Amino acid sequence: MNQVISVSKTVYHHHKDAIEALKRRDGLSYRVLDRVDEEPIYIDDNFVVRLWLTLPHREREQLALFFHSLDEAWAFAVAHPEPQTEYPALISEYGARLRSGALVAFPTETVYGLGADATNEAAVRSIFEAKQRPLFDPLIVHVASIEQLDGVVEHLDDRAKALIDHFWPGPLTLVVPKGDAIVPIVTSGGDTVAIRMPDNPFALSLIAESGRPIAAPSANRFGYTSPTTAAHVAAQLGSKVSAILDGGSCEVGIESTVLSLATSTATILRPGKIGPAELKPIIGDVVYADSAHSATLESPGLLENHYAPTTPLYLVSDVTAYKDDPNVGVLLFDRVDTTFQGPVRHISNNEDPLEAARRLYWAMRELDGLGLAMMVCSPLKEEGIAVAINNRLRKASQKR
Ligand code: TXA
Ligand code: MG
Repeated sequence: MNQVISVSKTVYHHHKDAIEALKRRDGLSYRVLDRVDEEPIYIDDNFVVRLWLTLPHREREQLALFFHSLDEAWAFAVAHPEPQTEYPALISEYGARLRSGALVAFPTETVYGLGADATNEAAVRSIFEAKQRPLFDPLIVHVASIEQLDGVVEHLDDRAKALIDHFWPGPLTLVVPKGDAIVPIVTSGGDTVAIRMPDNPFALSLIAESGRPIAAPSANRFGYTSPTTAAHVAAQLGSKVSAILDGGSCEVGIESTVLSLATSTATILRPGKIGPAELKPIIGDVVYADSAHSATLESPGLLENHYAPTTPLYLVSDVTAYKDDPNVGVLLFDRVDTTFQGPVRHISNNEDPLEAARRLYWAMRELDGLGLAMMVCSPLKEEGIAVAINNRLRKASQKR
């Protein structure tokens, strides 16, 4: 194949040797460009891959896909030499598969979802089977437009309308009264439904193309870490899905905020990127659900021990106490001077909580694959998106 990979000057200067090695390995050529312009696919700074696409139901646009390493960005560019012909065809094919009841995994801005037609009982049942998820844990219904909420919800109150106006598409899921078009298995028989419009062009194009509201949990086995790359989905559910749409690494990296409007005071059932500081100016009072004080299980996502890797994870106040043990993997939030004998992954290099969220599950999976005795991490300062990161760390970790 005569493929030429375009890379930015900065990426080239920092990774010249690696790029030469990849070029030789794959038998391709590359060119170094100052700016992207009309390049069909381009590896930009921080391993952002930029590509021009005209997806079904969307205008021509330049997409920015995230990757965690040069290898991943390069592999994507190699695997997709002609994205502008490939992706529209894939999305129309996968939209048709969703309509016919098949499972399709797709990227969202938070994590990858395992999608099925939310109006098709058998299709939704196969989500629960593929994930080995208990039927009492309800699913989020994803839409690509406000019109698609017709029949999905019974009605929207003023708070719901204001939040939708302000935050959609985006990582905010709303629990509202359920409409008749949604089969009961989606909501575990309950009379509320969780709804969300993801902020990801592939997801929006696919959902619109399917013409259906799409029920989609995170595309992992029940209880395990959510997937933030197509490879994560393939590793756990590859044999159970009809297709996986590869859209790179998820930009937010942890699951959406789940906000219940079924109560008179809006209640955060699962923290996410959008927290009380963003919600209060729009709807006033917002509280956190406290499952510890509640007899009933309001959101099964509140179950302890969720989002867990296979290698035991411990939350500790000082990770340097483990520096001499080669069998302990370390998740770090900033650069430290300590030398660790075990493997280290930086969820952030400079205490950036958004970067930490984006890299958290990826880093956990990287360490999880190394056959270590355990991994350790310190919780972050409890503010903004770090509230959600700490929440996932606590649930993924072992009690002691
Ligand atoms: O970011 C996300 O929300 C991702 C992407 C794929 O959109 N989806 C996701 O789905 O995380 P899942 O199924 O892994 O988590 C959905 C959470 C669960 O904790 C579930 O119990 C809760 O939402 N949930 C769903 N419907 C609910 C309802 N009617 N009432 C209360 N909680 C609900
Ligand atoms: Mg999940």
